[in-house]
Parts: sequence; C-alpha cells; structure tokens
Amino acid sequence: MRKNIVAGNWKMNTTVPEGVQLAKEVVEKSKEVPAEVGLIVATPFTHLCPVAEVLKGTRVELSAQNCADKEKGAYTGEVSVGMLVSTGAKWTILGHSERRQYYGETDAKLVDKVQLALAAGLKVILCVGENLDEREAGKHFEVVKTQTENVLFHFTAEDMKNIVIAYEPVWAIGTGKTATAEQAQEIHACIRKVLAGKFGAQVADDTTILYGGSCKSSNAKELFAQPDIDGGLIGGAALKSDDFIAIAKAF
Ligand code: PGA
Repeated sequence: MRKNIVAGNWKMNTTVPEGVQLAKEVVEKSKEVPAEVGLIVATPFTHLCPVAEVLKGTRVELSAQNCADKEKGAYTGEVSVGMLVSTGAKWTILGHSERRQYYGETDAKLVDKVQLALAAGLKVILCVGENLDEREAGKHFEVVKTQTENVLFHFTAEDMKNIVIAYEPVWAIGTGKTATAEQAQEIHACIRKVLAGKFGAQVADDTTILYGGSCKSSNAKELFAQPDIDGGLIGGAALKSDDFIAIAKAF
C-alpha cells in the first residue's frame, strides 16, 4: 500500500532561527495528524543541520530541495548528496519547476541527480508538471508523460520504492490558482499508467503521487479524496505551521 505524505517545500524562505522555530511548531502540532500520514519538511541547505536536531526522534522527516549533479570535487557553490546525508536529511526534492525554469535543470541532469541521491540512500520527490502554454495547447498529458519517462525510465522497480512523484502544474504554483480535483486526478492517473506500463501494476499502485500548486487547507480535502492523489507538496502554506498541519489533517 502506498503512503500518504504531506511535504512542506519552504523554498528560499525563513532565516535559520525562523526555520528552527517553524520546525519546532510542526513537530509539536504533528500530534494532531494521524500517525499513518508521512510528514516532511524541505528546508534550505543552510537550515538542514539545525532543523535535523529539532526533528531527531520525531515523525517529521527532513528533506533538501535540490542536490548537485556531481558526487564531489571542484564545483563551487554546489551541495552533494553525501553532504545532505551527513546533515540527517532523508529526502531531496528534485526537478522542481522553479529549478527547471530558472536554473536550467534538464531531464538529463535530473537522471544524474536521482541516481546520485538513491545511491547515497536519499529518497527523492521528483516534480513534474506543465506550464500554462502547454496546458492551454492541450499538451499537459504529453508533457507530464514525457518528463516522467525521461527521468524515471532510467531506473528500476526497486528504485521506485524510494521515489515519490509530485505533479505540480506550473500555472498553479504560488498563483492561488489550484488545479481542480478532476484536473489533478486525471494527470495523476496518467502518471500511474505510465509507471504501470514500465514497471508493472504493483509498482504503479505502490508509488506515492503528490499534488502541488496552491494547495491549502480549504482545497486539500477534495484533492486528497481523489483515488490517485496521495498527498501534497506544499509551498506557501507550509510556512505557517497551522496551515501546514491543517492540510496534513485533510485526509
Ligand atoms: P505553492 O507551491 O503551494 O506555493 O503553490 C508549491 C510548490 O511549488 O511546491
């Protein structure tokens, strides 16, 4: 059975003390969330060590938001998977649309990053999603299918145990425009079909697929009620512990 997960993507927000405080509040309020729901916070690199201290021995897991596409060496400004693991992080987000859009993250680069992350023992939240032009041109299924295939078809059924997919339509991120539950569901079902075709029905059924893009407590219930939506990757609403926890309680 696949796991329901709510992950907070803090993006480039909060100072270290603010992040530590937010993590403490999430831990405190996590008692209100049913035990079977996975909780993850994805902090900036600078916050990983102090937040790991806060999360130690709790149910809330730590994630990075990116990693280097090289193992180590002369790559100024980059952060390796080995470094992430040494902070206590268990996860990394990869392929977020902001990384694809502003930092030239390609599917090919993502294959290298996912490979390194899995080899280091990190789990991956791989983001896919179409932009507004692609949606309006009716290409959303094709775009998401291609992104999924381009990265995940380099991996095995065994690898898929450590990979979560997040469908995030770019036009819904930070815009207040959420995909309707139906729009999200049909893409999630499509992703699951792509996985089934490559890895078999069992793997497809066992893979957690999150929705992201202006997900908040007021729409989470309807989204999470869809058969193929297994939780959310939350941006803006993850910066307030009450909002984040309210979403996690929406299953
Ligand atoms: P949002 O961001 O919830 O602020 O729309 C989601 C994301 O980009 O992960």
